[in-house]
Amino acid sequence: MDEVRNPFVPGAGTRPPELAGRQDILKTADVAIQRVLAGRGSQSQMLLGLRGVGKTVLLNKIEEIALSHGHKTSFIEAPEERRLVDLLYPRMHQVLRQLSGVAAAKAKTVAALRALRSFASVFKVEYGEFAFGVDAEGGVADSGNLEYDLADMFVRIGEAGQAAGSAWTLLIDEVQYLQEKELAAIIVAIHRTNQKGLPVLFFGAGLPQIAALSGEAKSYAERLFIYPSVDALPEQAATEAIEQPINDEGEVIEPLALMAIVQKTKGYPYFLQEWGFQAWNAAAQSPITEADVVRAAEAALNRLDEGFFKVRFDRLTPKERDYVIAMAKLGAGPYRSSDVAEILGEKLTALGPRRATIIAKGMIYSPSHGDIAFTVPMFDEYLKRHWMV
Ligand SMILES: Nc1ncnc2c1ncn2[C@@H]1O[C@H](COP(=O)(O)OP(=O)(O)O)[C@@H](O)[C@H]1O
Ligand SMILES: [Mg+2]
Repeated sequence: MDEVRNPFVPGAGTRPPELAGRQDILKTADVAIQRVLAGRGSQSQMLLGLRGVGKTVLLNKIEEIALSHGHKTSFIEAPEERRLVDLLYPRMHQVLRQLSGVAAAKAKTVAALRALRSFASVFKVEYGEFAFGVDAEGGVADSGNLEYDLADMFVRIGEAGQAAGSAWTLLIDEVQYLQEKELAAIIVAIHRTNQKGLPVLFFGAGLPQIAALSGEAKSYAERLFIYPSVDALPEQAATEAIEQPINDEGEVIEPLALMAIVQKTKGYPYFLQEWGFQAWNAAAQSPITEADVVRAAEAALNRLDEGFFKVRFDRLTPKERDYVIAMAKLGAGPYRSSDVAEILGEKLTALGPRRATIIAKGMIYSPSHGDIAFTVPMFDEYLKRHWMV
C-alpha cells in the first residue's frame, strides 16, 4: 500500500497516530495540572516502565496539556554524564523570563532571578553571554547544598508563577540517569512548593528501577508522588493502536492479521508501531491480511534488531555481553543473579561489579532483591536470534 500514507511511526518519542490505552494516566495528570493552578494540593507523577512502552510520548503529551492550561513548562532529558544543574539552570531562567512579561509578577520574578544568579554562581554553572540585570541575593539558593538551594529556587519560581496567575511544570525524562542526590533534591523541592501551596508540578519518566532513595526524600516521595506503571498495552488497546490509524486512512485490516500483530508484539507500543508499519508496506492493497503480516515479519524483526535492540547491546563490553547472554539462556526472566552466576561458572560476589555497570548503562534492572531483568522487552529473544548459535 502507499508508503507515503503509512501512518505508523516506530521511533523514540515519536507521537503515535493513536495514543492507545493511556487515558487514565493522562486524566490524572490533567486533574493535577488544573488543581495546582487553583492552589490545591496535587500529586506529581513518576512514570515507570521498560524501554519502548511510550513514556517519552506520555511526557510530551502531559507537557501539551500543561501548556493548554496556561502553565509554563520545562522539559529535560536527564543527562547520563552531566550534572542536572547545568541543564536545569537555563530552563529555570527561561521560565522566569516568560513570567517577567506579566506585570503583576514583576517583583517576584526579579526576586527569583536574583536567587537564580546566586544559584548559578554557587554551582559554578556556565551562563555565558546573557546578562542578568539583577544582583545576586545573599542567603538564598547559595548554600551549595543542592537540596536546600533547589528548594529555594523552586519556591521562588512558584511564587513568581503564582503572582502571574500561572504555574510551572517541570518534566524530566530518563530519570534513572539522575544521581541519587539530584533526584532527592528535586523531591525535597517539590515537597516544599507543595507545602506552601505554590503552583509547581513535576512529571518524571524512567526505567522501573529508580535510585533507591533514603532519608527525607524517601518519605516525601512516597506521599507526594504517584508511580503509574507504563506497561505493554492490554489486548483491546493494542488492537486499537493498530486498527484505528489504518481505518483513519480509509483502509482496513482483517481480524486475523490484527490478532497476529498483537500476539507477535505482546502489545509493546514500539513493536506495535514497527509491525504496523511493515504490515502496511507489505500489503499490496487493503484489506491487510494475515499473509501480509507473515510477510512483514522479516522486515519488522530486522528493523527492530538493528534499530532498537542492537544499539543497546553495542554499548556493552565483551564481559557484560557474556553476562546478558547468560541471562537469556535462562529464558525470558526475571532472573536470579545466582542462577546467572552459575551459568557463567563464577562466584556471585565476583559478578557484583559487572552487574552494577550493566545496570548503570540502563540495560538491566533489579525488580526485587536478588533478581534482575532486562529493561528492553523481549531482549532475550533478540539475543537468541543473534548471539546464541
Ligand atoms: N499508547 C501508545 N499507543 C501506540 N503507540 C505508542 C503508544 N505509546 C508510544 N507509542 C509508540 O511507541 C514508540 C516508543 O515510544 P517512546 O515514548 O519513545 O517509549 P519510551 O520513552 O518508553 O522508550 C514510539 O514509536 C511511539 O510512537
Ligand atoms: Mg523515552
